[in-house]
Amino acid sequence: MNDDTAPSSPDPRAALRLKTIVLVGLMGVGKSSVGRRLAAALDLPFRDADNEVEAAAGRSIPEIFAEMGEPAFRDGERRVIARLLEEPPHVLATGGGAFVNAETRALIKSKAVAVWLKADLELLARRVGRKEGRPLLKNRDPMDVLREHAAARYPAYGEAHLTVETGDTAHGVAVEAVIQALRGHLQAQSKSEFK
Ligand code: S3P
Repeated sequence: MNDDTAPSSPDPRAALRLKTIVLVGLMGVGKSSVGRRLAAALDLPFRDADNEVEAAAGRSIPEIFAEMGEPAFRDGERRVIARLLEEPPHVLATGGGAFVNAETRALIKSKAVAVWLKADLELLARRVGRKEGRPLLKNRDPMDVLREHAAARYPAYGEAHLTVETGDTAHGVAVEAVIQALRGHLQAQSKSEFK
């Protein structure tokens, strides 16, 4: 029998592709690496807000901080994210400070699904300590900076639609955890429409 006419089974990822998925959280938690893999798994485009800010400014993030100052970076970050949220659904990794801005946070919450990737500060300190390119860590103990950021930023991150705890596992494990959380969120949303 020729089953060309049989209805094709629905793609279980389709519902997850309706809105942009924005990853928020502290530096080093894997927003870009998990985001890139999540986008591939869901067959969505991937955008990295830090890279987009660099492209718009024609400078690296350390250069923007050094030559223009942090307020100029924050201003550019806010405008770039607002522009990206107008694009068709994609996975968007944000810099650690983006969701702390009240305007950006409100925009993300209204237009996208925000996912807070959360991990132990010790793990993050080990990760960021190995890399250059983060001006907020310049001449500072990473653990001190991360503690300050956790205290100042967790209330804002806590406003994300979803929180996914990631440990020191392969990024693929975090991707699966995010997909599970997104499915749960969608199911809860569709149930609430019948209440
Ligand atoms: C920042 C985090 C960085 C980058 C900038 C500021 C922050 O992004 O946006 O250096 O304020 O936490 P990552 O979170 O990708 O490191």
